[in-house]
Amino acid sequence: MDNIQRQQLLQAAEKVALKAYAPYSNFRVGAAVLGGSRRVYLGTNVENASYGLSICAERVALATAKVNGEEKILAIAIACIDGKLDQTFSRRSPCGACRQWIEELAPDAEILLWGSTKIFHLRDFLPYPFQPS
Ligand code: THU
Repeated sequence: MDNIQRQQLLQAAEKVALKAYAPYSNFRVGAAVLGGSRRVYLGTNVENASYGLSICAERVALATAKVNGEEKILAIAIACIDGKLDQTFSRRSPCGACRQWIEELAPDAEILLWGSTKIFHLRDFLPYPFQPS
């Protein structure tokens, strides 16, 4: 991947974030996943009146990539468009549940955060993952 492709993936995540269903938190998140086939899969957070049933953008996009037959995920761009752009990334980085999902479905993917040019990997966020096998 080059930097232009990274920026394009982040833009796709930013654009889809506008379609987030987040009436309870008003915190819109978009995710764009680049599969090994070079196709891009999109997701947003989808909330529920029973709050705990809400699902994050990353998991929607990863599940969509999986059911479309992607074996390898090259990159995940995450756009928390209502998050503060501070240097701790505390309002822009993937939640704990999504980190475990990335471990399962996209362990080697580049992780790109909206508003940053840094290239992260899962180990930056989840150094000791649960690995049953
Ligand atoms: N959210 C995501 O979609 N991805 C994350 O990694 C962090 C949190 C969503 C869940 C909820 O709908 C809203 O952001 C506020 O937490």
